[in-house]
Amino acid sequence: MARKKAEGYLSGKESRRISKENRKTTNILEKKRKRKNVPESEYLTKMHDPANAVEFDNLHTYFFTDAGTVKSVDGVSFEVPVGKTVGVVGESGCGKSVTSLSLMQLLQRPQGQVVEGEIRLNLGDKAVDVAKMPYEAVQHLRGNFVSMIFQEPMTSLNPVFRIGDQLNEVIELHDGEGKSKEDVKKRTIELLEMVGIANSEGVYKMYPHELSGGMRQRVCIAMALACNPKVIIADEPTTALDVTIQAQVLDLLRNLKDKINSSIMFITHDLGVIAEMADYVVVMYAGRIVEKGTAEDIFYHPAHPYTIGLMASKPVVGKQVDKLYSIPGKVPNPINMPDYCYFKDRCEMCVEKCGGEYPCEVSISPTHKVSCYRYSDGQTPDAARNTEEKKGGTAS
Ligand SMILES: Nc1ncnc2c1ncn2[C@@H]1O[C@H](COP(=O)(O)OP(=O)(O)O)[C@@H](O)[C@H]1O
Ligand SMILES: [Mg+2]
Repeated sequence: MARKKAEGYLSGKESRRISKENRKTTNILEKKRKRKNVPESEYLTKMHDPANAVEFDNLHTYFFTDAGTVKSVDGVSFEVPVGKTVGVVGESGCGKSVTSLSLMQLLQRPQGQVVEGEIRLNLGDKAVDVAKMPYEAVQHLRGNFVSMIFQEPMTSLNPVFRIGDQLNEVIELHDGEGKSKEDVKKRTIELLEMVGIANSEGVYKMYPHELSGGMRQRVCIAMALACNPKVIIADEPTTALDVTIQAQVLDLLRNLKDKINSSIMFITHDLGVIAEMADYVVVMYAGRIVEKGTAEDIFYHPAHPYTIGLMASKPVVGKQVDKLYSIPGKVPNPINMPDYCYFKDRCEMCVEKCGGEYPCEVSISPTHKVSCYRYSDGQTPDAARNTEEKKGGTAS
């Protein structure tokens, strides 16, 4: 009999078998994506609700690695309504970025692949399923319809080009038809002013290293807004900034949202930021959505033990505690997910049924959905617990 292997240990033979299989799978998927001149009819679709800008429907995004298949996003469904901000929250590694990268088709290839599900994007006069689109076609969407603001503004800007030139390039590439050099520069200056850069002519000529972190992030936001996208993905846009600058950037994003009428998918691990920004909140854990609802649902009536734990682990101004709560245990290994609720091993509120298969999503109000056995019998979130959370959830 073979010796008992340490968890996660792979023999050379096993590893070779896995990579061979991965190559086979990814080759098939890549071939399909790389096709040229695919007729539009293949990926045209209909929004389930025309009031939505994006609909993620049962999205599965996997990474085929030599150690096994990482199910980074495993059956995620949620909507981003037109003109609204949806906050996606969850601890590091739960699949927030991979969800947004799937929409932009910017996954690390060929390992990262959308293997199942639909991502319907509303283009106004028509709708497309990004999950079915070949790479060639997606290129036209980036910048024009969907754009992204990243976490680290220094690495998002090119250090060897002036700010003005970098912004001009974006405008020329996406929106340059019939525009003279002066028109493009005028638009760049206008964008710099829109994001609150006072010395716009000066900044136009500067290099990224001459700007502070907050200013750089403003430039990145200007770049993302250059072509009036319908959807803006902000992936932890304030995580690299200190708190005062964070507040300024959040203010800016909120004001801009009203001006440009775009939808924002706001990704963060910080509940305080979500509370300030979001109309709707999606809570992710280990590649799945455990709870979603309006901001009020999530902050005043958190239902999933994970959300309740997240709320409790947030420091609150004016509340004295000896030790800040932290959720015990760690996220399960993404290659070997259990077949029961992924949160069960860390959960302090388990009920009898929790040993069963992964819980389905239940509605506890018309807007509020949760995947947890505690509510499968039509119960509502524990009233006593809520009043306590209410205090914790809003004072930030
Ligand atoms: N290129 C990659 N190769 C393998 N695994 C990846 C890759 N990118 C992300 N993952 C895995 O996918 C999961 C989700 O990652 P991510 O979406 O970046 O998390 P976050 O919620 O912090 O943004 C993690 O377990 C991560 O290790
Ligand atoms: Mg991330």
